[in-house]
Amino acid sequence: MVSMSLVIGTLFLQSLTVVFRLRLKTVEERAGLRATQVRIHKFIYYPILFVTIVSGAVLAAKTEVFANGKWIYPKLGLLLFLIGLGFLNGMQIKKDLMPKKYAMMVHIAIFIVGAWMIYYATVKPF
Ligand code: HEM
Repeated sequence: MVSMSLVIGTLFLQSLTVVFRLRLKTVEERAGLRATQVRIHKFIYYPILFVTIVSGAVLAAKTEVFANGKWIYPKLGLLLFLIGLGFLNGMQIKKDLMPKKYAMMVHIAIFIVGAWMIYYATVKPF
């Protein structure tokens, strides 16, 4: 629960700071924020994603969810989508300037996919 909250929370905020960075006026300000974003992406997001996948897999094996709960399959499909959005976020962090709508699209998609995964895991509709 802790690691998956950190994965979603980190991605949500990182993608928002990409939007905020577009408002900064000087090259120095943008470079300073980018350095922080790169460190968070490498040293917090990727390690905590790894911990989430390993602890989720252990939990799945212990509860035999693959045999009993079909909800796990769309949830893992969405996880692949979320990982793709994480790569896009990493690419946007490296870029200095981009249309604001692209940054917003990644940010909103992360929110929707994260909420959808939590829906499957908590409501377990099937
Ligand atoms: C960012 C990625 C993930 C998110 C957002 C997420 C979300 C959640 C949430 C919110 C719950 C709590 C459900 C509850 O107790 O009511 C949960 C439980 C669970 N998750 Fe994940 N999860 C993620 C990754 C994974 C992975 C990679 C796996 C396994 C391959 C996995 C397997 C499970 C299992 C087996 C449960 C226990 C369900 C139960 O028996 O109640 N999760 N997940």
